[in-house]
Amino acid sequence: MIPRHVGYIMDGNGRWAERRGLPRSAGYAAGLKAMLRVLDRTEARGVAAVTVYAYSSENFARPADESAAIFDVVEKWNGSYSGDRKVRYIGDLSRFPAGLVKSVRGVELRTADNPGMTVCIALGYGGRDDIVSAAAKAAADGAVTRESFERGLSTHGLPPLDLIVRSGGEKRLSGFMLYEAAYSELYFTDVLWPDMTESDVDAAMEEFAGRTRKFGA
Ligand code: IPE
Ligand code: IPE
Ligand code: MG
Repeated sequence: MIPRHVGYIMDGNGRWAERRGLPRSAGYAAGLKAMLRVLDRTEARGVAAVTVYAYSSENFARPADESAAIFDVVEKWNGSYSGDRKVRYIGDLSRFPAGLVKSVRGVELRTADNPGMTVCIALGYGGRDDIVSAAAKAAADGAVTRESFERGLSTHGLPPLDLIVRSGGEKRLSGFMLYEAAYSELYFTDVLWPDMTESDVDAAMEEFAGRTRKFGA
């Protein structure tokens, strides 16, 4: 079995840099390279959609220079992306710099009709916020049903989130896709995100293939 949609919680970038005596910002540049490797391998394995957790709503609590380093990596990548994937963002962009927001809208527009894998980037994202906002939308439209609620989630239209992979050793979701994760398989690795390679993706895929999913039945 191949997961239809994989979520990657890209954790461990700061520690990777600190262990090398580098500024934490260096971890985000290395993290981007790892993301590209991971996306290539994940697409090659036949996965239709990936969501990567790039910056949570709680990450605004980080020092300004660290956040700025992350925003810079994201904005540059948005501007330079010329591949055949569909890039889509989820999260609240209202607190991000205007240049970054413009680059987000640009890459979304440019890639909307692309034939490749969907790459969904969670930026300024928090699963609790997303749930509250979906509930509010559904209530404003009439009856709150599972269907009307799910239409209001930022992930609406993406395939079911079959697998969540978290790097960096922590075993928690940190607000990642809390509703969508209801029956996701969870895979945790101690590998720090910038060290993630093709074989780490393969290991997660093999583990997923061996899991028995019961959905309560
Ligand atoms: C995760 O890496 C990515 C973001 C929060 C943007 P961290 O920066 O949390 O790395 P560690 O967990 O401190 O090593
Ligand atoms: C989760 O990592 C967010 C991202 C990977 C973007 P954090 O480093 O922010 O999570 P906590 O603080 O360890 O839970
Ligand atoms: Mg972290």
